Amino acid sequence: MKAQKSTLTNLVAILNDGKFHDGISIGRSLNITRSAVWKAIKKLEDYGIQIESIKGKGYAMHEPLILLDKQIIKKKLTHKNIEIEIFESIDSTNTYLKSFLAETKNKKTRVCFTEQQTKGKGRLGREWYSPFGQNIYFSCLYSSYKDLSELAGLSLVVSLAVAKTLNSFTLPKPLLVKWPNDVIYDNKKISGNLNEVQAEANGMCAVIVGIGINVNMEQDAEQSIAQPWTSLRNIIGKYVDRNELGVLLINNLFNYLENFEQHGLSYFINEWNKADKLFNQQITLKHDNNKIGGIAKGINQHGHLLIEVDGVVKSFSSGDTTIVK
Ligand code: BTN
Repeated sequence: MKAQKSTLTNLVAILNDGKFHDGISIGRSLNITRSAVWKAIKKLEDYGIQIESIKGKGYAMHEPLILLDKQIIKKKLTHKNIEIEIFESIDSTNTYLKSFLAETKNKKTRVCFTEQQTKGKGRLGREWYSPFGQNIYFSCLYSSYKDLSELAGLSLVVSLAVAKTLNSFTLPKPLLVKWPNDVIYDNKKISGNLNEVQAEANGMCAVIVGIGINVNMEQDAEQSIAQPWTSLRNIIGKYVDRNELGVLLINNLFNYLENFEQHGLSYFINEWNKADKLFNQQITLKHDNNKIGGIAKGINQHGHLLIEVDGVVKSFSSGDTTIVK
């Protein structure tokens, strides 16, 4: 049986040529009433998508938009045994998978994307700005045999998988990783990850990896992002189909997670060192209400940050880093 695409996805596909389409012909193509067309247009507008509407001519969308499509993504996954869900709008993909796990106790590997998050979560209680249809808001749930302490390196491995994914697009400058969870291009953040781990009674851990990637966002309409940021579209100068990016992300992420599961963080240390934004930089680390200043010296085998403070190298397991200008 051929899976149905959502009305919104089909409507956006029609409007994507930038031309005007009247309600009657849209309704005919989608096999829905004129009033259902109007409701779908209204929904897109409520999500912040700009649609020009002219009496007698119909509706036109002047900015490109391709919505996420489960069938396209699923077909191209190299790891076949993954449940995949795509939402139009939810609070947070991490929160969704956490509740899913609590309610179903089902730890089978699953991933989800959403077009919009109404309560996207960043690290340290920050908000992750998540406008409709622009970016990747993705989470995955899997079971790990690793000990809780070994999972400290997870955010580093996830950042490397994201960097590998973004490097599939030819970028003029290198992508760097910033401890513990940022991917940086030209001193601006393009991606962050937020990972939540629950130890289970059977010695396993249920892991939720949450990834946000700025893909097509060109400006921050609400100026909700406090730190300097960029997006893939800003860098390469063209609109990116998030379905392609989503496939690359899942394929790379599961390769990286498998290697992490089998070989641990040591497998990735060289890759980290090559892309380490902080290495040999004078930094400050905000950690448990303390500020520590020193020179970043890479990571240890647990993924903790090494900082040389007054000639002594110390390791730190958590915190927020900034480079001192
Ligand atoms: C950070 O850099 O502070 C981490 C950002 C993580 C954002 C992603 S978007 C998908 C997933 N769901 C969330 O609520 N947060 C993560």
